[in-house]
Parts: sequence; structure tokens; C-alpha cells
Amino acid sequence: MPLVNDHYLKLAAGYFFPEIARRVGAFAESHPALAPRIIRCGVGDVTEPLPPAAVAAMHAAADELAHRASFRGYGPATGHDFVRNAIVEGDFRARGIGMDADEIFLSDGSKPDASAFLEILASGTPDRGGNRIAVCDPVYPVYVDNNVMQGNTGPALPGGGYEGIVYLRATPENGFVPEPPTEPVDVAFLCFPNNPTGSVATREQLGRWVKWALEHDALICFDAAYEAYVRDPALPRSIFEVPGADRCAIEFRSFSKNGGFTGVRGGYTVVPKAVEGRTASGERVPLHRLWTRRWSTCSNGVSWPVQRAIAALYTPEGQEQMAALVDFYMGNAAILRQACVDLGLRTWGGDHAPYVWVQCPRGLGSWEAFDLLLTREQLVVTPGAGFGRCGEGFFRISAFNSRENVEEAGRRLAVLTAHEPARA
Ligand code: MLT
Repeated sequence: MPLVNDHYLKLAAGYFFPEIARRVGAFAESHPALAPRIIRCGVGDVTEPLPPAAVAAMHAAADELAHRASFRGYGPATGHDFVRNAIVEGDFRARGIGMDADEIFLSDGSKPDASAFLEILASGTPDRGGNRIAVCDPVYPVYVDNNVMQGNTGPALPGGGYEGIVYLRATPENGFVPEPPTEPVDVAFLCFPNNPTGSVATREQLGRWVKWALEHDALICFDAAYEAYVRDPALPRSIFEVPGADRCAIEFRSFSKNGGFTGVRGGYTVVPKAVEGRTASGERVPLHRLWTRRWSTCSNGVSWPVQRAIAALYTPEGQEQMAALVDFYMGNAAILRQACVDLGLRTWGGDHAPYVWVQCPRGLGSWEAFDLLLTREQLVVTPGAGFGRCGEGFFRISAFNSRENVEEAGRRLAVLTAHEPARA
């Protein structure tokens, strides 16, 4: 009988978003008359059609695969050069950031990359030769769960969280942007614009993180999946806008939220050649070398039609269409944010991020607010407690929906502050 990876058994519950889907499904099943009324502003899944430039590129790619002369088989595991070059030009050089195309690793998204990247780092708790991991709290649960699965933590703690992880409190007091840790940490996961709070780190704040990482020989795993939502040009969209980050940080990027690729799948990770780790005996090793090796062994890369679609996003028309998509969702975010503000709810995010973060009124817990909105108004939000202990007492509303649904969602939020339930 095979031995299992028993670190999986430490996971406190099912993965958060399927758990929400399960609860919503159970409600729909037990209330069939109300099921059609459900509006989902929980998981951050896009709703609008793909940019036409990407669609046309996938059609063209399918035609190429249909003919011997233009047929494509295996490509380079880390992505075709024409795609990586387009990314370097469009996302980095255009913003004054130097980068080589071979520092871009195409993938099927930042969630799988955030998971796979742990494969090239030592696993185990720090007392067993592993790394001490820091995350913000609240946090996108993927960073934590993957570290649990790799054996980098101790057991689940009674009040939430896992032994051995350094949790950095993100609260209204610090604007949901924690400062670097004061205790020893080897790897820190950061996400800005932030999921779930919608906060954005300023250049100065990221500068302090980079300084900390360089001084402590630490690695920053920076998730920039929502960078397209930054409206203020003074705010950084990449950690590589901070000098020195190319020696201490890697960055996850996604086409899910800007190009609407949640179903198509596409993203990339930037691993600069100057970023190093060390062996147990103290030898310094470029992470780029290990990550390249990992890709060539474990993957044959992203499919040809998807790579063609990604390249199309960087054409002038692709850029314009993507910007329109992001503007549309930001219009939704503004409506949701305003609806919360009008109700007198304490509200954050939604101005440089597609998520609005709201304090539950009347002392409600975040699952209570979730239940109230689901059962009374058939509105699905994400309870903050699922993102960590500091998420308790908050909930997240996703702006990824149709305009009609978002306007209706804004009206339905009123049940939170109504003294009488909005629906009997
Ligand atoms: C979220 O709702 O937090 C995200 O959509 C999840 C994801 O991107 O994997």
C-alpha cells in the first residue's frame, strides 16, 4: 500500500473556494425557487468574453495546427521566444524595467506557479532544514496551503493558521500593508494589489520589503496577478520597479484577471538570474537554474493556441481590449464600493483592485455575514475568516460580474444594515 503525503492531512478544511461553492450549492438545492436569484460575487472568476484579439489568435492557431506546413508539436518548455519577448517589452521595458526574455517562464497561471515554485526550495520546517515562511494575514489561501502540503509547517493551530508560519497582520491600522517581519524569515509571500483586501503597496513600502530581503538574504515571492487594476501611475505594478528586487524577488503574473483567461489558463513567472538560494552547506545557487531545470523535466509548457492568444494580448488592439475589460470591472468595483459606503459600512479596496473589502456591521462574524447575504438576499460574498484569522469580521466582494448583477448586488447589500430582514 502506498504511503501518502500526510502533510495533506494537516490541512484544516477543504480548499476555501470549493467550500463556498459547496455551501452555495447546498442552499440552491434546498431552496430551488430562490436558486435562480443567486448572484455570485464570491470567487474572483471573470464573466465577460475574451478580448477579440485573443479569440482571433486562438482561431488562427487552430487552423495552423490543421495543416502540416504550419503544424506545431512540442515547443520550448518555458515558452516561445516571440511570446516571452512580447511580455518583456509590454510589461517591463515599457515601464523602464530591464529584463531578459529567458527570465520569463510561461505557465498555465500564477496559482500553479506559486505551488510549483516550492519544489525548488528546501521543504520541511525550519528546525528540519526547511525555510521559515511569512505570509500576510489575511492572505490568498494558496500560499499557506501549499506550504502545508510541502511539510513546511507544523499542525493547524486551534484558533486558525499553522504552527511555524510567520503571519504578518494586515489590518485597517496599517492599511492592510504589513511591514517586513522582525523575526527570521527565509521566504515571504506578498500580493499587491492585494487579494483579498484590495490594498496596494506604495513604492516606499515595497522599497522597505526589498531592503529587508537584501539585508536578510530572504526571497520575496511577489504575486502581481492584479497589477492591471492599479490606476495611479505613482503606484508600483511590479516589484521589479524597486531597485534591487531583481536580486531578491520573483514575480507571479496571470492573464486571468486582465485578459479574462481564468478558463483559458495562462500566466508567467519572472525569475531573474541574479536571485539566489543556498544549499545546506552554504553554496549559493541561482534559482533561475533550478526553475529552468524543473520546467524542462516537469512540463512541456503552454499549448500553442494559448501562447498565440497571450502574444495577441500584447498587440495594440489586444492592449486596448484588455484595458477596456479591466475598466469595465473597475466600474463594477466602484459601484460595489459606493454601495457599501452609502450603507455606512467601513470599506477598503476597489480603487486599484477588483475586490472590495468590507467590515461586517453590527458585530457580525464573517461567516454570519456570508450566511445572511446568502439566505436572505442570495448574494454570495467571500467570508474574510477563510483568508486567515485577521480576516474575521470582514468579507470580500468580487467585482467580476455583469453590470446588471453588480448593480443588483449593491442593492442587496442593504440587508446587512437593515434592522428588519429585507426578505421574509
Ligand atoms: C479568488 O477569488 O481569490 C481568486 O479568484 C482565486 C484564484 O485566482 O485562484
